[in-house]
Amino acid sequence: MARSVLVTGGGTGLGRATAIRFAREGDRVAICGRREEILKATAEEIRAAGALEVRAVACDVRYDDDVAKMVTSLHEAWGPLDILVNNAAGNFVCPAEKLSPNGWRAVIEIVLNGTFFVSSAVGRRMIDAFASDARQRSIVNVVADYAWGAGPGVIHSASAKAGVLAMTRTLAVEWARYGIRCNCVSPGPFKSEGTDRNLWLDQELEKEVLHSIPMHRFTTAAEVAESIAFLADESKSAYITGGCLPVDGGHWLAGTNLGFLSAVKRGLPMGPKSQKK
Ligand code: COA
Repeated sequence: MARSVLVTGGGTGLGRATAIRFAREGDRVAICGRREEILKATAEEIRAAGALEVRAVACDVRYDDDVAKMVTSLHEAWGPLDILVNNAAGNFVCPAEKLSPNGWRAVIEIVLNGTFFVSSAVGRRMIDAFASDARQRSIVNVVADYAWGAGPGVIHSASAKAGVLAMTRTLAVEWARYGIRCNCVSPGPFKSEGTDRNLWLDQELEKEVLHSIPMHRFTTAAEVAESIAFLADESKSAYITGGCLPVDGGHWLAGTNLGFLSAVKRGLPMGPKSQKK
């Protein structure tokens, strides 16, 4: 049976790959993001991949009113969602002592607040639906191994992702009685348009990170999307909740995550504003 899925930040990168992965199963797929043109183009790809229906909603997850409107409109169109993937994120490299309150706020608001706003708006509908149909539903959140380690150079993202991990585990326990499973995937370092712009500031840094991955290659978006699909799929992972699945070629286990420490130490010009226009 076709499921209804929302992927936040679904216009590009991992979110786009995930949305397309669900489309291949013939699901109803909704994506949201900030840039309408990008969403429209990706919506076409999702349709072409086989989605039963597609919706692309311009919504910045930082604003709870916009999130509420989006979730209400999806509910009116499709009824309660079956699967929510909280993928929307923002990140850039900046030494902690140089990070401004606004820089801190921007990432915390997108990653931590955004994940909560969407989860609570969608979760409430899932809870209501469970009372009448007793169906299992699923939330999958995207974190990173610095959520339980250290994230030198990305203190805002590390703090937010640690919060998302705690949120996932808390909701897994609170919402198990409503048939809602909550899990995380933790992708290893990977390359996308966003990471190229915001994280891999020069080739030396990229090489260092590659050396820190036991399998010696970057994670691909398709691999992570496959794991998200697994954790979302009741027929494959019905008894898994509160888990965090690393899809990282052994990166965190090897204990070699120095994050962006060398970029910080070398004083590289940070991020898109100062570097790559
Ligand atoms: N280094 C230091 N500070 C930075 C920065 C950088 N590279 N990029 C943004 N900031 C600061 C800004 O200076 C600003 O603070 P200020 O008012 O004290 O100067 C604050 O962050 C907000 O920046 P702004 O560009 O106005 O916010 P935004 O909401 O438009 O952007 C970001 C949000 C900052 C997260 C931006 O990187 C973004 O939109 N990213 C989306 C894509 C993304 O990050 N994907 C993940 C890739 S891994």
